[in-house]
Amino acid sequence: MKQSKTVLITGATGGLGQALCRQFAREGYPLIITGRNPTRLAALARRLQAAFGVEVRIVELDLGCQGAARTLCERLRQMGAEVDILVNNAGFGLGGPFVENAVEKQQEMLYVNVHAVTELCRRLLPGMIKRGWGRILNVASLGSFVPGPYNSVYCASKAYVLSLTRALAQECRGTGVKVTALCPGATHTRFAHRAGMESTLLFRVGVMNAAQVAAQGYRGLMEGKTVVIPGCQNKAAYFLSRFAPQQLVTWSSGAMQKPRRHAQREQHASLPRLTRREGFSHQ
Ligand SMILES: NC(=O)c1ccc[n+]([C@@H]2O[C@H](COP(=O)([O-])OP(=O)(O)OC[C@H]3O[C@@H](n4cnc5c(N)ncnc54)[C@H](OP(=O)(O)O)[C@@H]3O)[C@@H](O)[C@H]2O)c1
Repeated sequence: MKQSKTVLITGATGGLGQALCRQFAREGYPLIITGRNPTRLAALARRLQAAFGVEVRIVELDLGCQGAARTLCERLRQMGAEVDILVNNAGFGLGGPFVENAVEKQQEMLYVNVHAVTELCRRLLPGMIKRGWGRILNVASLGSFVPGPYNSVYCASKAYVLSLTRALAQECRGTGVKVTALCPGATHTRFAHRAGMESTLLFRVGVMNAAQVAAQGYRGLMEGKTVVIPGCQNKAAYFLSRFAPQQLVTWSSGAMQKPRRHAQREQHASLPRLTRREGFSHQ
């Protein structure tokens, strides 16, 4: 069924982005897709148009620098496009010890994962509120709920996305706009390879496929949920992290995300000894 609402999806060339594009296109929504690689964007647009008969427009853009979201909104204005559904999906991780990651790469990640998400919400929300209807899907992570040793800046950035989403969902009550955080666990995409995390325990057990994550995200968004955690295993991990001592949660998060070379170096390291005070303290 053809829909009249327009969907903007960032990071459309990635694994989850493509799955989200297919999900919305299957439901008949016209799309505006963004990414850095024009060849991949054009190929995706052709596939979606052929398979689902929807209109797909392309904006080629690097979100990893200052002013990128403003440029994107300027391009939308020139196209005469009104965005009814915003999917802030573009993002990447950076595995390894904090002190070994390049400062420039950490900054780029904050631009994509934090600045662009914030600014696109800020610039596109007023139009949605004025029209009395809108949806925003911010792709956060299971790592939004816990500190992430060996993927620290990424998890902190996704904690920000979750916090922002919850706050905006509350502020938008009664306006017709719903704001949702999608919090996937490990998912088969190019993410692990790009973050240098393929060797980690996290990407060796219970990895979901992107189509399942996209379908659950879409359903949660349309139902107006504030937080969506796809998959039983991820939900279980979330509930455990709520009730376990915070020091143990942080330790196990680090053990899951530690690159193999570090895991081997510290293979005799044991579980942290929890005193009652440490175990229940928030780090
Ligand atoms: N896969 C997982 O295990 C997992 C788990 C939890 C959350 N997530 C989140 O899911 C979202 C999608 O990631 P994915 O798993 O689909 O990974 P992916 O396959 O690597 O796709 C990432 C997407 O983000 C785009 N992107 C990265 N840096 C960008 C930049 N500077 N400017 C513009 N676009 C940029 C990429 O575009 P290019 O093709 O141009 O690089 C690509 O389209 C991310 O927010 C990620 O944090 C993933």
